[in-house]
Amino acid sequence: MAEKVSKKDVVDHGKRDFLSGTTKAFGAAGAACACYPFIKSMSPSAKVEAQKYTEVDLSEIAEGDTKKVIWRGKAVFVKHRTQSEIALAAAGDKTVSIDPQTDAERVKKPEWLVTIAHCTHLGCVPIDGSTENWACPCHGSQFDVSGRVVKGPAPKNLEIPPYEFLDDNTIKIG
Ligand code: FES
Repeated sequence: MAEKVSKKDVVDHGKRDFLSGTTKAFGAAGAACACYPFIKSMSPSAKVEAQKYTEVDLSEIAEGDTKKVIWRGKAVFVKHRTQSEIALAAAGDKTVSIDPQTDAERVKKPEWLVTIAHCTHLGCVPIDGSTENWACPCHGSQFDVSGRVVKGPAPKNLEIPPYEFLDDNTIKIG
């Protein structure tokens, strides 16, 4: 005897496919919406990451002055040293003891010091005006005209970023 099939038992494949497709589409849209703020928040760092190089026009920096530039989201000091600062840095070769390094190891040309401007203790940006060349406002570390630490708690000298001279008046950091 033939089984009676009610309307309820008949699968409407077209309707099922439509509902399934719609659910997936809404799910994907929901996931995209949920991800958007995250992606949006990531984009500035992606921009920073994209800034692999920073060029600096040295002709704008007078002797004795320091220009602060940004490279890959970090502050960098570009200091145009005077003859007396160069002599001071050379004299410091004999006295620095926390992270011994000669000035010649830290510069490509004696009149230009290029150094990451973040204290090697916890990352604050040192300021001018200490008895040495820079003082960290956070915990009092001091750095000389070569960016070498002369008073802690910073354990290391200011870091030297990769850079090169493109010509006498331009450096490329990165
Ligand atoms: S962050 Fe510079 S001394 Fe602590």
